[in-house]
Formats: sequence, structure tokens, C-alpha cells
Amino acid sequence: MISSGKLKKMYLEFFQKNGHKVIANASLIPENDPTALFISAGMHPLVPYLLGQPHPSGKKLVNIQKCLRTNDIDEVGDNFHLSFFEMLGNWSLGDYFKEKSIRWSYEFLTSKEWLNIDKKRLYVTIFAGDEKVPSDTESARIWEELGFPKEKIFYLPREDNWWGPVGSTGPCGPDTEIFYDTGKEPCGSECNPGCSCGKFNEIWNNVFMEYNRTPDGEYELLEQKNVDTGMGVERTVAVLQGKDNVYEIETFLPIINRIKELAGIEEISENQTRNVRVICDHSRAATFLLAEGIVPLNVEQGYVLRRVIRGAIRHGKLMGIEEEFLSALSQIVIETYSEDYPHLKSNEDFIVTELRKEYKKFSNTLARGLNRFNRIVRNKNKIDSKDAFLLYQSFGFPIEITKELGLENGIFVDVDGFHEEFQKHQKVSRVSADKKFGSGLADTSKETVKLHTATHLLNEALRRVLGKEITQKGSNITQERLRFDFNFDRKLTDQEIKDVEKIVNEQIKEVLPVKRIETTLDEAIKMGSQAIFEQKYVEQVSVYSIGDFSVELCSGPHVENTGELGQFKIIKEEGISAGVRRIRAVLE
Ligand code: ALA
Repeated sequence: MISSGKLKKMYLEFFQKNGHKVIANASLIPENDPTALFISAGMHPLVPYLLGQPHPSGKKLVNIQKCLRTNDIDEVGDNFHLSFFEMLGNWSLGDYFKEKSIRWSYEFLTSKEWLNIDKKRLYVTIFAGDEKVPSDTESARIWEELGFPKEKIFYLPREDNWWGPVGSTGPCGPDTEIFYDTGKEPCGSECNPGCSCGKFNEIWNNVFMEYNRTPDGEYELLEQKNVDTGMGVERTVAVLQGKDNVYEIETFLPIINRIKELAGIEEISENQTRNVRVICDHSRAATFLLAEGIVPLNVEQGYVLRRVIRGAIRHGKLMGIEEEFLSALSQIVIETYSEDYPHLKSNEDFIVTELRKEYKKFSNTLARGLNRFNRIVRNKNKIDSKDAFLLYQSFGFPIEITKELGLENGIFVDVDGFHEEFQKHQKVSRVSADKKFGSGLADTSKETVKLHTATHLLNEALRRVLGKEITQKGSNITQERLRFDFNFDRKLTDQEIKDVEKIVNEQIKEVLPVKRIETTLDEAIKMGSQAIFEQKYVEQVSVYSIGDFSVELCSGPHVENTGELGQFKIIKEEGISAGVRRIRAVLE
């Protein structure tokens, strides 16, 4: 049986043998993209390189990337959708194109030396073309030349066979997707690989990124023809282990078994299947999000975290699990994945504590909120915007939970109205700032870049004043101020704040040079780089040093020397959750 670990190893080996360099498994939180909350595909951190910037590791890259997708989170619970998953990817940045990409995928999947998947079970889809971009007949020809039967090649429209861009503009292109037939009965005469009935499991997507979507919605050809592929680890392992859904693969079984134990059941009944799957998916997502230092909040990443934790708690209650259970599941997730993701283990206490805290907050109001929901629908058979907002504000129900309750009970929930109501009640300044800027840099303006360099100085100054165990838990930089989260379990004294400011300002006075170095991970560790916790497979990394004062793994941008910064001042220091403090600071 090929395990998940073995598949990941084989994939990297196959593409390394074919000239690819392994690149880092990036953080789930995008570093320099304020428009997105999470990394949702392996190509996401590669956008500048797909647009032509040279990549330090060359033109042929491969990696394993952890991803989080919220766009189809409602479908979690069917056979194949997951919010959190691992994606295998290989890329060509202006090197090989369709021919090699398709041949390699087919070889890796079907050759005896590699995955040895039965060719007869495979189907592929191709972009059918539309008024803007022609049909991808070249990919179809390549599949046919490989001996792929014509009748198993399906031409589908843009909504199925086009990928990207990540935001509204950027690299994108037609794709060819590879499906495995689970052997289930077709759902009807129209059932084909584009169908979501569960017969076909999409395992690999090869995108031919030769277009750039412009702000006016046009597609212009890129100078460089790229390949971006994504192969779902969990889905492919399901195929390799003969399962028709991802929840039976070996990495999921300990979680599922524990859920059964907690609910006191031997077998999962048909109507419990979705509960168990949602709990399993959400416990993985919550564990990986907490490991990034995200805490449950009502905005941005913290909101998604809150929503998956609360969703899992509700599904637990539906199965009769009364006690707090997510911390136990997170410990299984940590055990299962910590070899590949050591940052899970090092954040275990934080993860467990936050899950318990959030349980306490929500379990107090969940039962009362459900009563209220039932009372409302008894009277009027729908949940209008005000009801949904009441459930949110007084009982802590994320709108998605109310929506799900509506679906389960056949009741209309006014989700759009809720959002309008929500906007009205927000303090405008807070929301506009938080909505606009995700984690990382809001833009690359001069002011923002200066504050980015100041953030590195602050990080090191905190370590010097408070201790070496200080690490970054999050960062958000706008033109006006920097915001920096770090692990520390009490309020800073006035003296400590003064000391930190003093150290930063001393480095500014020294006019220290800021240098970027491309190096190996080993070298970076030797240099004492900060922020290395999960980049196990990486070969080349980018490091920024500030004089002899600080070294951090980072992809920039930064100023050339600290003399450009001005006077550094901390304007606020506060706790945002147990063990996590937040500093806001400015340059004057
Ligand atoms: N970026 C492509 C995907 O996520 C490969 O499917």
C-alpha cells in the first residue's frame, strides 16, 4: 500500500530526476498578497515568477504545498472536497510546456516503476474554447499520441477547464484535468468527468499558464509559457488505497476512529457520515490554522478559523458528543503530520489551549442559540437578516452555521441580508482597515517597505529584551503603521517598551545595510535565521540581513539601509489571545 508519505516522496523524486528543484512549502498565510486570506494553490506564492521574474531555484520547480480553500467549503462532507489539503505541484517557468507536462503526468501515474494506476480507469478533460481563447486541441493531440482513447477525452467549458488567476488579475490558462473512475454507477446519462456526483475523482490538474488576465477582463499572451500543476495528495492516496472517498485514507483513519470513540459508536450510520467528515476536515484545518498563530476572531483568517471550530463543535453535538473534543483530535492531527510539519508540534500547547477556549465560548451559547433558531422558524418558517444577525451577535453563530441549519431544515436564510446588517453594525474604521489588508504587506509603497524593515528590527529587539523564545505569530503592514504579533504571556512593562524602542532606534542611527542573500536552508539556519519552522524540503531560500543585527528568512522587499527609516515608536501593546501579544508601531 502506498502511504501519503510515500506518495509525497515518490513525487518529489520523480520530478527531481527530471530536472526540477524542490522549493519551500510556504506558510498558509500569503506573505505579500493582501488580496487573499490563504494560500489556496501551490502556484500562489509563485505569481511573480510566472509573470517573468527569475526564480532563484531555476525554471523547473516542484513542491508539496499546504493549502486552504474556503470557496467550496459547503461541499466538505462529500467524497472528495476538503478545506485543508496538501497539494503536489510541478512548475515550468518558461521551460517545458504541454508535451512534457502531460507525458510526465501520465508516466508518473501509470508506469509500473511509479504509481502503477490502471490506465483503463483514467479519463481526461480539455478546455473546449470560447470567444476569447481557442480550444486546446494541442493537449488533446498529445493525449491521443500517448494512446489515450479519444472517447475518454472530454471537452468542457471555461468553468471546468480554465484555471486562475488567483485574484481578479494575473497568470491563468486552459487546463487538462485527470480523473480516476471510482467504478460507481453513473448518476445519469449525462454523467461525465466534470460531474460532481462522486463517480469521478479529479486527481491532477495541469494548467498551461500562457495568459495574463488584465484588469479589463481580457486575456493577453504572457511572454513566458508556464506550466502549473496541482495533484491532491489525499485524493490520489484514496485512489492508491482503493477508496472511493478521502476519509478512509490512512492519515484520516485515526481521526475518524477517535470521533467514533467520542460519540460511542461502532459504525457510522448514513446520516452521521457528513457529521463525521466535517468534524474530521475542520479539525485538520483548525489545527493547521492555529499553528500559523491565527486566533479565532470575527474578521479575516481568524473568522475562518472560528467558523471551522464552531462548525465542528455543532456537528459534534449532533452526534451526541457533549464534552470538548477538538483538542483531542488536534493532538492526533499533530502526531500524524508533525514529521513533515514540525511547527505543529512546537505550537501544540497554543493549539490545544485555543481550541479549549473557543469551545468554552461557543458551547455556552450553542444550545440556547439552537432553541432560538427553532423558535423563530416555528413562527415564520424563515430566517431573515435580523434573525441571522441576532444568532450571530447574541449566540455566536457564524452565518455559515445558520445557513447550514437552514439547509438541514429546509428553511430559507437571508444570507445577503445578513451581510448588509453586519456591515451596518461594524465600527467602520476597524472593518475598513481589517478588510483591506490581509496579513503581510498591504502594498509595496515606500512607507510600507520602510515599516517592513522596521518589523525585522522590532522582531530582533523583542528577542533581545524579552528572550530568545520570542517568535513572530503574524504581521500586517500598511503605509501608516506596522502590526506585529508574537508569543509572550504577559503585558510588557513601560521599561521593556522603552528598551525595545531604544534598540530599534539605535540600529536606525547606525545606518545598517540591508542585504538579500539566496542561500541553502542549512546555511540560513547556521546564520541564525528567524522563522524557520516548516520548510523541510526547501533547497534555496531568501534571507535578509540587517548589518550584524538581524537575519530573517523573507522574500522582501526592504529598504537599502536603516538610515532611511526615521524615528521608531510603539503606539500600542496589547494581548490578543492567551500567550499572544500585539504591537502596533509607526515611523515618525
Ligand atoms: N493551480 C492549479 C490548481 O490548483 C494547478 O488546480
